Amino acid sequence: MHWTRTIPFSALSLSLGAGALFAASLTAHAQAASTPSARQASTETSGNEWWRHAVIYEIYPRSFQDSNGDGIGDLKGVTERLDYLKNLGIDAIWLTPIYPSPGVDYGYDISNYTAIDPTYGTMDDFNNLVAEAKKRGIRILMDYVINHTSDQNPWFIESRSSRTNPKRDWYIWRDGKGETATSKGQPPNNWQSWFGGSAWQWDEKTRQYYYHYFYVQQPDLNWRNPEVHKAMDGVLDLWMQRGVAGFRIDAVSRLFEDPNLHDDPYLPGRNAYGDRNIQHKYTDDLPEVHDVLKEVRAVVDRYPGDPVLVTEADEPNVQALTKMYGNGDEVQLPMDFQIADVNELSAPRFRELFNQIESNTAHGQPEFFFSNHDQRRQWDRYGDGKHNDEIAKLMAVLELATRGTPQMYYGEELGMRTTDPARIEDVHDPIGRRGWPKDKGRDGERTPMQWNGQPDAGFTQAGVKPWLPIPPSAATYNVATESKDPDSIYNAYKRLLSLRKTNPALRDGVQTTIDNNDPDIFAFLRRDGDATVLVALNMSAKQRTVAFDLSKYGVSGTRLTPLYASPSQAGMQPAGHVDLAPFAALVAQVE
Ligand code: GLC
Repeated sequence: MHWTRTIPFSALSLSLGAGALFAASLTAHAQAASTPSARQASTETSGNEWWRHAVIYEIYPRSFQDSNGDGIGDLKGVTERLDYLKNLGIDAIWLTPIYPSPGVDYGYDISNYTAIDPTYGTMDDFNNLVAEAKKRGIRILMDYVINHTSDQNPWFIESRSSRTNPKRDWYIWRDGKGETATSKGQPPNNWQSWFGGSAWQWDEKTRQYYYHYFYVQQPDLNWRNPEVHKAMDGVLDLWMQRGVAGFRIDAVSRLFEDPNLHDDPYLPGRNAYGDRNIQHKYTDDLPEVHDVLKEVRAVVDRYPGDPVLVTEADEPNVQALTKMYGNGDEVQLPMDFQIADVNELSAPRFRELFNQIESNTAHGQPEFFFSNHDQRRQWDRYGDGKHNDEIAKLMAVLELATRGTPQMYYGEELGMRTTDPARIEDVHDPIGRRGWPKDKGRDGERTPMQWNGQPDAGFTQAGVKPWLPIPPSAATYNVATESKDPDSIYNAYKRLLSLRKTNPALRDGVQTTIDNNDPDIFAFLRRDGDATVLVALNMSAKQRTVAFDLSKYGVSGTRLTPLYASPSQAGMQPAGHVDLAPFAALVAQVE
């Protein structure tokens, strides 16, 4: 690997083994039509809020760093690794839930929203983490699990205790169909849980069904009850007062259900759990969701520091995703699942989706990610089995050189891969047992962070069994090994993260796709005033040589200076052509 942002093209050409000027005729050109107006027209406040330039890093605390030798990661462990994160170049951490929880859904079943689960430490540990992170310029985002609680939450324990309990209506209770004194009848309708089976659970004590979109142990809150709003707004206040910078809101599309309980329409086939496929038509994306988002925003906006809301918004298309921005009064960063889930290296598809979100009608800031704790890691979903390292680096460029707020998942910077449990007996995530072997659950993407090549990967203490096994790939794909190798995936991330911060066009520039008909190459410009950066990604296994005619886009400049290239020979050759090896990525300043 040989690159630098200061080498003039003529010098660089020697190391690339080919030399000539980039000869695209770069005449000035009126470009009104091709200049995206997204940023300028934003309805949001200053346009310079921290989260517009931040890189968010998702930490699954259970798997990041164990500080006390129980085989489970914890808050002190995260604090110990803050210098690593600072050095990598990230700006904010999203912590998946750390509240007390029975752990059926590994923290997403919360029994107390205002405390820390002892597995992860104490409130002092949390305060210390926030303070130490702040010293390093790193912000903390909490997970706000709003659709449901644990069935062990005192609110639900009260709610299920009698039909007249004041908290009865905090959850969704309904009579069964055809119930008699001796029979529970049938569930109220055909709604299905995301995790398999009916979404209704019979409760013998009060002889009614309660509704749960997710596990049986995760009863849905009734967001039509004002007291629920009050209680949950109080949760926001508590954590804002503890110094967090915002929230990632969980499962937000599922907050409301059709009050008339219409049956959902069935779709062809069956899912991994053996249920008929169904369209969640009457339980997803009801319009009232937006009232809640406005309310959450209003609560956090009472605090200084431009708090941010990120939302899990696995919306079916850009129109639905766009609604999450509201009129600049809802969520600033709805996670773009369309882009995350392309699941193949397809230049036309990425081009289409990036263009769509870039021109979203709310002028909202895009939020990109490729891996998280619910999804198989990008290594497996985008790798072709032969060029996985090159593809991992290309994905890094796609994530970090595009305009928007990128969200990384711990270990993606190492090329961590999904490592499923070998046997059903080893599975932790309940859906993995229910769906085995078609769906092995989400353990595979939650394995311990790979800090070094030791048997425990530096995650826990020697001789301690980590809660999930260390993947075999940790022997070579780990922080200690990769930080010494200039060509590693880790060093590609580090360089790109640094470039994003220091290069004005990559930091702030509008994005314009170019060469829109190329089946293999996704290429775009980032422009900020006179500064222009060209990004070209060869999403195919073919060696490609491409001529970019930047004059069409009104770019004036006479040469390309590579800022980043993987593999290192990606670059220019005579007559304005750019050489792109299979899965090559080039980021170059146009000067
Ligand atoms: C979200 C979380 C997922 C959890 C589910 C139920 O999708 O990301 O991990 O299982 O909500 O809370």
